[in-house]
Amino acid sequence: MTERRVLMTDPRQNDYFYEEAIKTLRTNIQFSGTGIRLIVVTSCYPNEGKSDVTFQLALEIGKMGKKVLVLDADIRKSCYVSRFQVKQKTEGLSQYLSGQSKAQDIVYSTNFHNVDIIFAGPAAPNPSELLAQESFGALLHAMRGKYDYVLVDTPPIGNLIDAAVAARQCDGAIMVIESDLVSRKVAVKAKQQLEMSGCHILGAVLNKVDMKNNKYYSKYSYYYSDEKK
Ligand SMILES: Nc1ncnc2c1ncn2[C@@H]1O[C@H](COP(=O)(O)OP(=O)(O)O)[C@@H](O)[C@H]1O
Ligand SMILES: [Mg+2]
Repeated sequence: MTERRVLMTDPRQNDYFYEEAIKTLRTNIQFSGTGIRLIVVTSCYPNEGKSDVTFQLALEIGKMGKKVLVLDADIRKSCYVSRFQVKQKTEGLSQYLSGQSKAQDIVYSTNFHNVDIIFAGPAAPNPSELLAQESFGALLHAMRGKYDYVLVDTPPIGNLIDAAVAARQCDGAIMVIESDLVSRKVAVKAKQQLEMSGCHILGAVLNKVDMKNNKYYSKYSYYYSDEKK
């Protein structure tokens, strides 16, 4: 079998605070125990930053010397091919789940150390049904045997069941929450939905915090300036 490989260009510019937050997340995952290897990343609404967190977390895990797979299960709104300027034609999850591609043909190695990826594939009209199929579970099971970590990027949990379907098959979940967007009530409901699927919540990421107008910023800068003394 010849290995499939893609070239990806990371659009993210250096961002000290973001990188530090992702490193903290990586450390927390490392300390969650050896049984936590299939991790679902979700949020309440679209655009809260799930895909961004998923990929940057994968990069950090890869740098640490662990093999990691990014599995894009957001068949409704896939972003990796365009955001990372993948030029070549790829086959993805929706094609595998609908019987058009074989499992070994949808896994791509990348130019990032230890990071492989499964793209979502073309949009399908019935993502929830596709993800509920046994073949999705079989794929996750096979990948568990090949990687130290599998990060499953999903659609928002707010009004779709895809994330809960994926979470049922995973060991833990990370919730990405956009600062100032999600009410406590909505976040708690999403958390309960995930827990109902039997998935252990590893933690939440408060994303897109306005650093200039937020009290956390002064706290950070305080520590930062302290360090430099
Ligand atoms: N911490 C952040 N600060 C500013 N913009 C962000 C941040 N995280 C993500 N974004 C931007 O928000 C948009 C949505 O992010 P994305 O990861 O695609 O969200 P989701 O996967 O939850 O739909 C993208 O344009 C992304 O670049
Ligand atoms: Mg996304």
